Amino acid sequence: MASTIATASTRVLRQPRTALTCKRQLHTQDAGCRWHFGAAVVFDIDGVLVRGKQTIKEARRALDMLNGQNKLKRRIPFALLTNGGGVSEQDKASQISAMLGTRISANQVILAHSPMQALAAKYKDSHVLVVGGPGRQCADIAHAYGFRNVSTPNDIVAWRPEIWPFIRLSPEIRVEKRAFDQHPFAAVMVFHDSFDFGRDLQIVTDVLRSREGRLSAEYVGRQTVPLFLSNADLVFSNEYVRPRFGQGAFHECLRAMWCALTRGASLEYTRYGKPFAVQYRHAEQVLDALVEAQNSSVCEHRRIYAIGDNPAADIAGANAAGWTSILVRTGVFSGTNDPENPAQLVVDHVGDAVEKIIDIEHQRFTS
Ligand code: G3P
Ligand code: MG
Repeated sequence: MASTIATASTRVLRQPRTALTCKRQLHTQDAGCRWHFGAAVVFDIDGVLVRGKQTIKEARRALDMLNGQNKLKRRIPFALLTNGGGVSEQDKASQISAMLGTRISANQVILAHSPMQALAAKYKDSHVLVVGGPGRQCADIAHAYGFRNVSTPNDIVAWRPEIWPFIRLSPEIRVEKRAFDQHPFAAVMVFHDSFDFGRDLQIVTDVLRSREGRLSAEYVGRQTVPLFLSNADLVFSNEYVRPRFGQGAFHECLRAMWCALTRGASLEYTRYGKPFAVQYRHAEQVLDALVEAQNSSVCEHRRIYAIGDNPAADIAGANAAGWTSILVRTGVFSGTNDPENPAQLVVDHVGDAVEKIIDIEHQRFTS
């Protein structure tokens, strides 16, 4: 399907809501290739650059274009903004670099849980339950973010296997067992997809309605522990022909279970990830840092283009942030445009998206 223009205007280049204030100098010299600092591009990963372990054919060419292979003959700053996680920013950068055969650095990567680092200011010494991903991987990420006292659902199962009696803990899994009736939890943070929905629903609801965060026989009739969620995607796109349940599906189950267990009370939580504003503010700071690393003076009228496959996450968030939203058809979306969260541009794939961006920027630069 050919690219379609979704709105009356193709040049919907709103002013950014960013702290970045750059005075002049849209271009500067860097290792033989000039930079074009008037614009920045933010890529979604799953469904735009890759699908599971497979790369999307046009992805490498899209990044090459931003690295200077374009008619502007200038590099355009870019970052990757994914609702994925469960690995460090460095590991995700290495993984995508290897898949696409290009170099992406950790400071270009924003994961669903990246802005949750800021919670360490409050919870660094508090005992927190970190949920999601395999083994202790997310606990290790939380440690790297500055949380010093982290437990996982596996640790709890190791303490009392009968808490989730249906599956035995594999002996290879690294656990830090402690008496969870003596060590109260101050917060629950879901960093990544649950690898065991049933067990994690049980354990998270146990903690959320525990007396003062201690796991004991006694429940209280209300939520006692704050909950932080990192990725609201109901579905995401991998190699399978149809979209798969994302972390948002776990949230839906958790909310339904909470409602049933508490006779209709609603669950309180703070959300991170796309489409929430916190993620876009964080991404803008990342772009600011990238630009500042290349250029001492930065741009006043920067335009941020977001390329995504998920209207509810990528397009809703980009539109709300005042970015230019571009929807591709290589992931969860297929069709003309999304009626609820219409993108400003709809194209077949990321290669077409970057070509459009270069055209728009070229037209601005030369007119
Ligand atoms: O699990 C990741 C998925 O929910 C979405 O990833 O890159 O499409 O934001 P992405
Ligand atoms: Mg996606």
